[in-house]
Amino acid sequence: MNIAVLYGSNRSDRQGIKVAKFIINKLKDRNHNPVLVDSMSYELTFLDKMHKEYEKGKAPKNMEKIHKILKNSDGFIIVSAEYNHSIPAALKNMLDHFQGEYYFKPSAILSYSAGPFGGLRVAVHLRAVLAELGMPSIPTILPVSSVYTAFDENGKAIDKNYDQRVIGFIDEFEWYLKAYKNQRAEGTPY
Ligand SMILES: Cc1cc2nc3c(=O)[nH]c(=O)nc-3n(C[C@H](O)[C@H](O)[C@H](O)COP(=O)(O)O)c2cc1C
Repeated sequence: MNIAVLYGSNRSDRQGIKVAKFIINKLKDRNHNPVLVDSMSYELTFLDKMHKEYEKGKAPKNMEKIHKILKNSDGFIIVSAEYNHSIPAALKNMLDHFQGEYYFKPSAILSYSAGPFGGLRVAVHLRAVLAELGMPSIPTILPVSSVYTAFDENGKAIDKNYDQRVIGFIDEFEWYLKAYKNQRAEGTPY
């Protein structure tokens, strides 16, 4: 499956990039084709129009690249920190400016935080937003606590619990990826 891994943090000392690398490695191990969509490497500033509001092919270059990746994806993994119990602005900015690219595809939430709660409060907020965007999230959330020490720079788990917990998370996501893909092949209402 083609899976876009969406991550939005523009902090110079950002930690979530290790979480994104971790899930990308695990998806590759399962023969998927994950692509990282990262607000920082795409140099996304606060966006002006939604992609669909530009004339065809006239959106800023990086938005066009992201559009193609999202459109080509079968599902999305949202790698999200918790900023004041909610969604980081860089991530929300990226999510908000695309729309039809997400429709009739599933998402899965991988939240994280520096503390012990693994970003569970942002996960609750994200569920509502992802449903509105047309990519409902699967029931299981993978919350990562103590993010500063959980993974190394290459996304390898230092806390080996994550190597176990990710298995069921991907198993469940795969089920929804297949179910939605099969049903999309029958057509969609819009
Ligand atoms: C603006 C801001 C707000 C934060 N708010 C929370 C919070 O509400 N709950 C929490 O557990 N951690 C919070 N943290 C700590 C983050 O969990 C931690 O810094 C994490 O590494 C941020 O993700 P990033 O490094 O990928 O940007 C906050 C961090 C920042 C920068």
